Amino acid sequence: MRSYSLIASAKINLYLEIIGARPDGYHNLIMVLQSIDLADQIDLRPLGTKDVCLHCDHPEVPQDHTNLAYKAATLMAAKFPDAFARYGGVDITIDKRIPVGAGLAGGSTNAAAVLVGLNLMWNLKLSNKQLQYLGSLLGSDVPFCVVGGTMLATGRGEYLSSLPALDNFYVVLGKYRSLSVSTAWAYQTFRYQYLEGNVSDTLSTENYKQRVYSEKMVYAITRKNERQIGQLLYNDLERIVLPQYPQVQKLKEKFQHLECAAMMSGSGPTVFALTQSQQEAQQVLESVKIEISDPDLDLWVAKFTSSSIRVASSVK
Ligand code: C5P
Repeated sequence: MRSYSLIASAKINLYLEIIGARPDGYHNLIMVLQSIDLADQIDLRPLGTKDVCLHCDHPEVPQDHTNLAYKAATLMAAKFPDAFARYGGVDITIDKRIPVGAGLAGGSTNAAAVLVGLNLMWNLKLSNKQLQYLGSLLGSDVPFCVVGGTMLATGRGEYLSSLPALDNFYVVLGKYRSLSVSTAWAYQTFRYQYLEGNVSDTLSTENYKQRVYSEKMVYAITRKNERQIGQLLYNDLERIVLPQYPQVQKLKEKFQHLECAAMMSGSGPTVFALTQSQQEAQQVLESVKIEISDPDLDLWVAKFTSSSIRVASSVK
């Protein structure tokens, strides 16, 4: 049996609009999701036993059954008991580079890598659609992370359609190391403040107008019009997270003062700024580093990528 090393990319939200509260506690969304080359490495090694083991040296990443990558492995074992019995368990090592609790789908992309990796290791020959279905049982962003690239997502995030790839786009990402945001808290607070407990799957007139706005974003992406994409960046969860974390608001403003379109990703607190080139991204990063000068602020340059999970190597 083979061992696999997989590269699992983070994502940013170019657009995140909350359409309504669902009876199951989730929210119907319209999102545009984009993979970026800030990535973790996931190593999968076959074990002779019937165990699932997980290692990660990042202090904030759980190494037990609560880790989404661990849950992905046990889900595969439960769904494919014959393969599990035949091939045995798996040892998962996560080399964490994507910040944790950041709004970049770090946990979801690790889970997607385990689904993709075990599909290969156990010779299951599942299609991406089947893997995405399994991903939807683990979390709202996992189906996107199975395939990645540039995608429109609706429902909880599980109904996906591919958009034209945005190559040669670069972002600067900024995250305060000591801050992390609970996604559940951000959505539940939004529900309480803006949806007033109205549980409905239908769209109000106001929401319908905003839907047209998401269509403009899709059109801008189809035309690869960077200026328009920048103008149409949108995230409803900023309304909850930015007032709570003023330094995140200030970081966004700093990017904007440098004439970059900027937005929080997912439930935050990572903020990203769109740039025209790698060189411009590097200049923006250096300026923000000097102007904010806070050792707690981590900054990265990342490129848009057209896929999420990539097999880096496999050995017998
Ligand atoms: O699906 P996932 O476990 O990643 O979601 C984390 C939390 O985010 C959920 O418990 C829910 O509170 C919130 N969420 C939501 N609506 C979505 C996606 C996530 O309310 N469409």
